[in-house]
Amino acid sequence: MDNPALQEIKDRLNIVDVISGYIPVKKAGVNFKAACPFHHEKTPSLIISSQKQIWHCFGCGEGGDVFGFVSKYENLDFKETLKLLADKAGVKLPEYRPQDKALVDEKELLSRINNFAARYYHEVLTASPAGKEALDYLHARGLNDITIKNWQIGFAPDEFHFLEKALLKKNVALNDLVKAGVSAKNERGQIYDRFRGRITFPIFNYFGEVVGFTARILHNESNGAKYINSPETAIYNKSKTLFALNFAKEAIRKKDEVVIVEGQMDCISSHQAGFNNAVASSGTALTEVALQQLGRLTKNLKFCFDADTAGQTASRRAGEAALKMGFRLKLIVLKNVKDPDELIKRSPGLWEKAISEAVWFLDYYIDLAAEKFKDGSVEQKLYLSKEVVPFLTYISDPLEQDHYVHKISNRFQISEKIIREQIKKERSPAPVAASGKVGPGMPLQKEVLGGLLFNPEFFNLYAPQVKAEDFEDPYISKLAAGLLSSGGQDIQVKSDTVAKEALFMVESQLDDLAGDTEKLNNQLKKTFSLFKLNSFKRQLQNLQAELKTAELAGNKPKIEELNKRVAEILNLRIVFEQNLNS
Ligand code: CTP
Ligand code: MN
Repeated sequence: MDNPALQEIKDRLNIVDVISGYIPVKKAGVNFKAACPFHHEKTPSLIISSQKQIWHCFGCGEGGDVFGFVSKYENLDFKETLKLLADKAGVKLPEYRPQDKALVDEKELLSRINNFAARYYHEVLTASPAGKEALDYLHARGLNDITIKNWQIGFAPDEFHFLEKALLKKNVALNDLVKAGVSAKNERGQIYDRFRGRITFPIFNYFGEVVGFTARILHNESNGAKYINSPETAIYNKSKTLFALNFAKEAIRKKDEVVIVEGQMDCISSHQAGFNNAVASSGTALTEVALQQLGRLTKNLKFCFDADTAGQTASRRAGEAALKMGFRLKLIVLKNVKDPDELIKRSPGLWEKAISEAVWFLDYYIDLAAEKFKDGSVEQKLYLSKEVVPFLTYISDPLEQDHYVHKISNRFQISEKIIREQIKKERSPAPVAASGKVGPGMPLQKEVLGGLLFNPEFFNLYAPQVKAEDFEDPYISKLAAGLLSSGGQDIQVKSDTVAKEALFMVESQLDDLAGDTEKLNNQLKKTFSLFKLNSFKRQLQNLQAELKTAELAGNKPKIEELNKRVAEILNLRIVFEQNLNS
């Protein structure tokens, strides 16, 4: 471990406390148990060792240390996880690793520029005559001063070099203002403030740092788009950033539900009215990355898109993505108002009612078919077949899918058979991707590694049968190579997180077997056999391919040699097949 802060964070935090901050955890003997958040399960198969500071799920094979859990749960990269856990542990992070210093320095700088701009614009809005009109406007729209402060809303005066002048005084280079997105450059190479005569809404990242802006025109009648946004920069990734997620994440987790609205004004009004599990899609498509991020917090989505065509299209597109990813999806339907902001302005109670009366996504479109077309008409059936049935294919739960097939069939007199045939025809061939780096066979490889680490007796028993190449995963293979070549003594391997998890896997099985090592050995024997059989299968596939090439080339000696190896493997295979069935 080359980062001392990392060790300090681990020392200060107890993995059991951290994980139980996310999911309910129960004591089970010396260990702790929980229902795994990374796959669907009812009986808990995720175990946590307080002593080893390691977790492992026997259901899906995932596991690791506290960093692995948090980064997976929050969908954060390593650096982001480090930051979050350092905060939790009260550890101050030192300078970043030297190899990406240039990039980190740049990000640091862009972040400072954006955060400065947010404060500066906020000051203009709240404390200078130049911001008076904008402040009045925001008040008239119902935002109070606490909200304006919390969200660091500001005003950029209608000047070309207002922010620029302030930042140049601080010795920031002009080009860095462009890189930060607060300035723009025209074809003639002139640089000027991007936001002019606009109300500025900072866009925060997951940690509440300003990474960009969306800015609303003050006078509706002026030229130019109603909203303009920062471009993507080194610190602002549009598809990853959901507006207000930093403010909403706790409430989303607590309520186990997220409300997704289109506009930032809708979102801010919702928070001000006390419904702070809202985020805004900011009028762009909800990406899979953004949905994944929400999926760590809740599986219950409620969309509230505007009733206009753009909103409807966005809703359907996002609905498709969300259903495919296994979300439970409802729609908040607004009547006689344009958007949530208008509804909340009338009365927050109306917004509360609208949220609670949200309808299931598919029910909404089924009802729409009934409203829009004459019952039994061809138009109605075509609409259903074109606009509704395709969505059934995205539902992964067979019971739920069946429910909708019945419903459409009964309500519209369409035969179930026809609906099912269409579903079959449309079913997307690509299954939903598995959750991450753990491929099939990975748990098996970990367990074998754990067996080798368990004690010298097991090592001596199993090591002669195993080669590093038997491990398909390159990382585990490297660990195994180190262990095998050192006669089971490699200290570095033993302190590796994956190795620790592997050992914990085996040890906790021993706990389940009440300490009976003989039974454990019997189990491991089967594990080893399965593992070897997997390896043989792979080797045979490779040999087959080589054989084909050799045959095409007419290379007789090569063919002979390859055939000999195939025969050897087939012989060995028999032994392990017997072990498996004994
Ligand atoms: N939007 C944008 N660029 C535009 C128009 C809209 O990025 N030129 C985004 C903004 O995030 C906006 C959302 O799309 O909040 C919805 O647009 P719209 O309904 O037109 O605006 P409202 O959110 O209703 O804005 P307001 O209430 O301030 O008029
Ligand atoms: Mn609006």
